[in-house]
Amino acid sequence: MADVTFENIDKIYPGGTQAIFEFSLAVADGEALALVGPSGCGKSTLLRLLAGLETPTSGVLRIGGEVVNDQSPQQRNVAMVFQDYALYPHMTVRQNLEFPLKMRRLPRLEIEQQVKWAAELLSLGEWLNRLPRQLSGGQRQRVAMGRALVRQPTVFLMDEPLSNLDARLRGQIRAELSELLDRLGTTTVYVTHDQAEAMTLGDRVAVVDHGRLQQVAPPQELYEQPANIFVAGFIGNPPMNLFPAQLTIVSEGRLRLRLGEQSLPAPDYWRQWLDAPLTAGIRPEHLALTSQDSGLRATVHDAEYLGHETLLYLRIDGIALIAPVMVARLSGIRIFHKGEAVRLALNTAHLHLFDAAGLALDHGMTGGDARR
Ligand SMILES: Nc1ncnc2c1ncn2[C@@H]1O[C@H](COP(=O)(O)OP(=O)(O)OP(=O)(O)O)[C@@H](O)[C@H]1O
Ligand SMILES: [Mg+2]
Repeated sequence: MADVTFENIDKIYPGGTQAIFEFSLAVADGEALALVGPSGCGKSTLLRLLAGLETPTSGVLRIGGEVVNDQSPQQRNVAMVFQDYALYPHMTVRQNLEFPLKMRRLPRLEIEQQVKWAAELLSLGEWLNRLPRQLSGGQRQRVAMGRALVRQPTVFLMDEPLSNLDARLRGQIRAELSELLDRLGTTTVYVTHDQAEAMTLGDRVAVVDHGRLQQVAPPQELYEQPANIFVAGFIGNPPMNLFPAQLTIVSEGRLRLRLGEQSLPAPDYWRQWLDAPLTAGIRPEHLALTSQDSGLRATVHDAEYLGHETLLYLRIDGIALIAPVMVARLSGIRIFHKGEAVRLALNTAHLHLFDAAGLALDHGMTGGDARR
């Protein structure tokens, strides 16, 4: 087992594309780190750098404290599961599992023990004599993971291993994998563009955009305290509602948060950002309907009835939203008509504020707790 560190890594591919910028991150021994970000942000490049399939242009990569920049993939003892989990088609499941061990010239008995261990761990026992084409996609995926595991790597790298599976199987294997990673305690870096997958599998989640680390934090912290607008909009589904806002003073010196032509009372702590151009963000579950006149005036644009909840898409009178509509998440089924006028209560304790550079402001409270 080993910890992994990226120290100020840059990666410029031949041809001049810079895929990674000043990337620094430490993955603890035994930790499962999920790397998440949009297509092309550099996730696979980061994994390939760790696996030794690419070399960093500058910076230092360490595994177990040792600098590995110039080590071959074999010297690193990392195992990588790729998106297309290429199994050898002409080999049985057993032969696929044995292959990496034979390559290392392990004694016959040890190979048998290792294969037995992996087969039990992943419930592959029934399929050992089948060929990959005689298995379903999910079963093949398990074999690919088994083949990576039998080597007992110091670091386990997975690049979108579930992306070829249907939603249901993904959910099932995701749960199995989560349990497996806990049980094995092998340091793991897991790449996905699916934020829900990252949140369920990662002890911590690192969000990457355009080759730069945006934030790394445990799932709950990432959700509740996004460090910038990118993370706020990327983590969470439906995404956080974002809109331009400004703090102003009305009569008697009282502070209000102005949203277009409307405004809400604001805690005095925010006075330091008076008149600054801000972006405000609120998650769909922190909007509620109210009968009070103080609520924001809104118009129903559409509603999705999902059974356990209703997603209400709204236009807010007088506010140009960054997305075309604002989404409110209401529990249960509530029937609405397009064009219906409603009043929205917006819980300022759950409001996120970002400055002109997109960075989160310390807004004096998080989920209602005071914070300095
Ligand atoms: N071998 C290469 N040569 C030149 N540019 C490359 C190479 N591989 C990747 N890139 C570029 O580097 C950037 C990051 O690519 P990478 O494959 O790491 O993204 P990703 O986050 O894994 O994306 P996806 O989610 O689509 O798999 C992209 O702009 C890509 O075009
Ligand atoms: Mg990729």
